[in-house]
Amino acid sequence: MPAPDGQPELAPSALPETALWTLYHRAAEARRPDTVLRDPQAVALVDRIDFPFVDRFGPAQPTVARLQALRAGVFDREVTDFLTRSPRGTVVCLGEGLETQYWRTDNGRARWLGVDLPEAVALRERLLPAAPRHRLLAGSVTDHAWLDEVDPGDDLLITAEGLLMYLQPTEVRALVAACAARLPRATFVFDAVPHWFNRLAEAAAKRPGGYQPPRMPWTIGSRSLLADPRTVPLGARRTWFLRVLALDLPDRRARLVRSFGPLDLLRRRPAHPGRPRRQG
Ligand SMILES: C[S@@+](CC[C@H](N)C(=O)[O-])C[C@H]1O[C@@H](n2cnc3c(N)ncnc32)[C@H](O)[C@@H]1O
Repeated sequence: MPAPDGQPELAPSALPETALWTLYHRAAEARRPDTVLRDPQAVALVDRIDFPFVDRFGPAQPTVARLQALRAGVFDREVTDFLTRSPRGTVVCLGEGLETQYWRTDNGRARWLGVDLPEAVALRERLLPAAPRHRLLAGSVTDHAWLDEVDPGDDLLITAEGLLMYLQPTEVRALVAACAARLPRATFVFDAVPHWFNRLAEAAAKRPGGYQPPRMPWTIGSRSLLADPRTVPLGARRTWFLRVLALDLPDRRARLVRSFGPLDLLRRRPAHPGRPRRQG
């Protein structure tokens, strides 16, 4: 089907294209009657736009699609929990791509800021409707200019869903350190992939349509995170803390993900004095 705006077929470059890949898989899972993630906006978008999803990415594999949806669902839960605590808080989505989380979780009062590369922001503006209280900022998360757009006095949740693995390790450290220094009250939620996952992705043959996931320069094992909390600098203040995304949905679908295991399965709680840290 041609693009709704009559523009030529989409041909994004490598990093923005990953946003189409996740969208495609989320939508594939959302079509299932037993879906783990209701995402009508993603389904409608995939049906509407002029992009050769199947030719480029191949048929969506159910396990991969479910994994993407579970990851999105875990981030949704973090957002929903945050908005329950801070209904007028601000959710900052780094590397937002074509994530349709706003439509899954918005409470009608929160503010949203999406940050992505200029090409990805242009893609989002072209394909998704403008959303109330949602702003977009074009630029790399690595130049930290987006921090000027955020009020450190606000209740803040920063998400980085499917993003940090595409950055250089030094960029990840600098980003986290800048957030810790400038947004000491914020919570930062991200996912990470272990070393072997990148090796697997690099070794994988190109899809028939020519798609190959971009390199993932930042990988980290859950053991190293647990063993050495300094792996990612958390900043000096105790109130600012880091959460490593946990796929700990309490049902058998989560176990499917656990056994598949490409994401680090741990959660780090804020370390309050006198309160034991829980992991798992
Ligand atoms: C795998 S997609 C994930 C998109 C979305 N978060 C989701 O889960 O569907 C990765 C996203 O990160 C963005 N990205 C990659 N490097 C970036 C950077 N340096 N600054 C901002 N965004 C970046 C890409 O453009 C893309 O939209």
